[in-house]
Amino acid sequence: MKVLFAASECAPFVKTGGLADVIGAVPKALSALGVDVRVMLPGYPEMAAIMKGGKTVRKIKNLHGGSARLVAKKAEGLNLLLLDAPHLFDRAGNIYLGPDGKDWKDNHLRFGGFSQIAAEVARDGIKGWQPDIVHAHDWQASLIPAYLKTKPNSAPPCVLTIHNIAFQGLCEPSALPKLGLPKKLFAPDGLEYWGKVNFLKAGIVYSDRITTVSPTYANELSLPEFGMGMDGILQTRRDVLSGILNGIDLDVWNPETDPDLAANYSARTLSKKKKNRAAVEKRFGLKHNPDAPLFCVVSRLTEQKGLDLLLDVLPGLVDRGARLALLGSGDKSLEAGFIAATRGYTGSVGAVIGYDESLSHLLQGGSDAILIPSRFEPCGLTQLYGLRYGTIPLVSRTGGLADTVIDANEAALADNCATGVQFSPIHAAGLYHAIARTCDLYAQPKVWAGMQRRAMRQQIGWDRSAQTYLDLYKSLGT
Ligand code: ADP
Ligand code: GLC
Repeated sequence: MKVLFAASECAPFVKTGGLADVIGAVPKALSALGVDVRVMLPGYPEMAAIMKGGKTVRKIKNLHGGSARLVAKKAEGLNLLLLDAPHLFDRAGNIYLGPDGKDWKDNHLRFGGFSQIAAEVARDGIKGWQPDIVHAHDWQASLIPAYLKTKPNSAPPCVLTIHNIAFQGLCEPSALPKLGLPKKLFAPDGLEYWGKVNFLKAGIVYSDRITTVSPTYANELSLPEFGMGMDGILQTRRDVLSGILNGIDLDVWNPETDPDLAANYSARTLSKKKKNRAAVEKRFGLKHNPDAPLFCVVSRLTEQKGLDLLLDVLPGLVDRGARLALLGSGDKSLEAGFIAATRGYTGSVGAVIGYDESLSHLLQGGSDAILIPSRFEPCGLTQLYGLRYGTIPLVSRTGGLADTVIDANEAALADNCATGVQFSPIHAAGLYHAIARTCDLYAQPKVWAGMQRRAMRQQIGWDRSAQTYLDLYKSLGT
């Protein structure tokens, strides 16, 4: 079975969030099941060195104002196909946003062009390799099935995975001819959405199967409060929509070998975790307090992640003797709120505003608990990293957070199956109550250590879900 993956980010090369982690990990898990996956990505500056040593497998005379080529190269255990189109992708800074912090004005051409070439590869293949299935991820690859639809006879089936429905990719309908798509697709049962072209809607309408990254989010997506305007159209496609839970790369996220930790440890040597906590305390300027937990946050700072709720309850967290180390960036008012908190609660609240992969590992290794109070969360990966590192996840009960953390309620504690703390409904009082519960659990060392060890034993690798993806591909008859 040969599968063409198409996505806009991929760890360890280029990452703004969990999509990259997933695209970096699933192909390896599929390949262990005998699937031959090629991962198509835009040729960002981060890919320049790889493209230099690669082989040109397709030449494109003109793609939205410049020539382009597709470069094949193996790197980090992945078979990459990189779209080298400097006029579209060779830009410094964020892959989606310009220096003004707003979307690049030509994002529809950048990712529309990317999808167009991916669709051509899906149809024609490259020398010696013809995909049986195309697997498109998020809005940036969502026009692929629309392009395939224009010549359905020669097209392989397409699976779309929705990682986050909040991002849909909109542009004016006047761009359709430039994108090389027939005007007739601009209809309510096509890719039209309130007078605009909606890339994600195209993916939802024209894909053969739709998946999202957890079973609970798959259910939530058809509800108006989670569907972000796509709930109606998703209801019409309910029979082809399913939730396949994300896993994590157990080699990259392994406390026994992680090079970013001050001390490596396992479930049997949990006491060594303290050395990592000391390193976090030092780095974030936090005082030591063995009687209350050290919480961490590793997150984009956006409305989705509910961290404004955390700002609301910080006084209560500090009152209990707990501490917070936050690593994140995004919304300027949230950044300012946490910076102010570090001044108001010196020694109890520390923050690093920015993106730092290595520090994110140290925080997972050195914190007692990780806070994820998201308003919605398609899957979430940081709670899974928390489980793996014996860092108890405190999460809101939504999406993949609901599917991966077992709340320490009375029944779960009696049954010895709790792995974390959940709260719902998602508001500040609920979060505060969950923080208080976590502090109480922490004050019972035996109970806490039991939860940590259980958390670390959870099966959260990719094996099971990779098999589910393979079964899905097979069900498409190839
Ligand atoms: P999302 O994709 O919605 O941002 P996920 O939990 O699925 O949420 O994935 C987030 C990924 O990005 C994780 O690998 C997390 O460790 C990483 N991450 C988020 N913010 C930062 C940051 N400021 N520095 C380093 N890594 C971060
Ligand atoms: C999105 C979601 C996150 C998910 C990730 C990978 O960014 O917000 O919940 O874990 O994609 O699928």
